[in-house]
Amino acid sequence: MASIIPLAEIDPQLVEALLDSAFGTDRHDRTAYKLRDGMDMLEGLSLAAVDQEKHELLGSIQCWPIALTDEEGRKHPMIMVGPVAVYPDFQREGIGRMMMAALLKEIHADDPLPLVMIGDPEYYGRFFDFTAEGTGGWTLPGPWEPSRLLVRSNAKNALPETGKLGPWTR
Ligand SMILES: CC(C)(COP(=O)(O)OP(=O)(O)OC[C@H]1O[C@@H](n2cnc3c(N)ncnc32)[C@H](O)[C@@H]1OP(=O)(O)O)[C@@H](O)C(=O)NCCC(=O)NCCS
Repeated sequence: MASIIPLAEIDPQLVEALLDSAFGTDRHDRTAYKLRDGMDMLEGLSLAAVDQEKHELLGSIQCWPIALTDEEGRKHPMIMVGPVAVYPDFQREGIGRMMMAALLKEIHADDPLPLVMIGDPEYYGRFFDFTAEGTGGWTLPGPWEPSRLLVRSNAKNALPETGKLGPWTR
């Protein structure tokens, strides 16, 4: 059985080993890393799944402060979700869904910041209402597949159709 704890309680080297195992050691060149370059992880929204008996790390989810800068230069803050990783030996056992559900519970239900991620629409769309709809006019600081740039947003908050995603700096 897995339980969810704050990722900050896990040795960062163990998290790096998990991410290498799930995404490969060349993962640092990915656009997702450039997107939150220089930002500190949002500790309250970054979680670990650990084996309850063996106290081993099984999976992790990290969140970062980013912003969409619109054509007028206005910044629209967002939360970037990812990487989401589960050790290959433990994939498809519900751990990814458990971590995402725990994250979504922490997000303010009435006035949530939009969640953004680069990920598989088949997974994040199917289980968690992420969609590439509305992100087609956004640009990123590196190459990306448009169908994998996903957002989960409260319909009350209209998002700019065009803009540049990047770290949330002043
Ligand atoms: C993607 C990931 C986080 C999912 O977590 P998980 O614990 O393995 O998945 P869960 O057990 O929560 O969900 C399992 C279900 O999701 C589906 N699923 C899992 N990964 C999927 C993916 N990348 N795309 C589509 N469907 C996927 C499974 O087929 C399964 O569906 P079923 O119940 O109908 O059989 C995990 O597999 C992982 O770390 N993968 C390596 C990193 C990666 O490739 N990420 C790509 C997305 S960014």
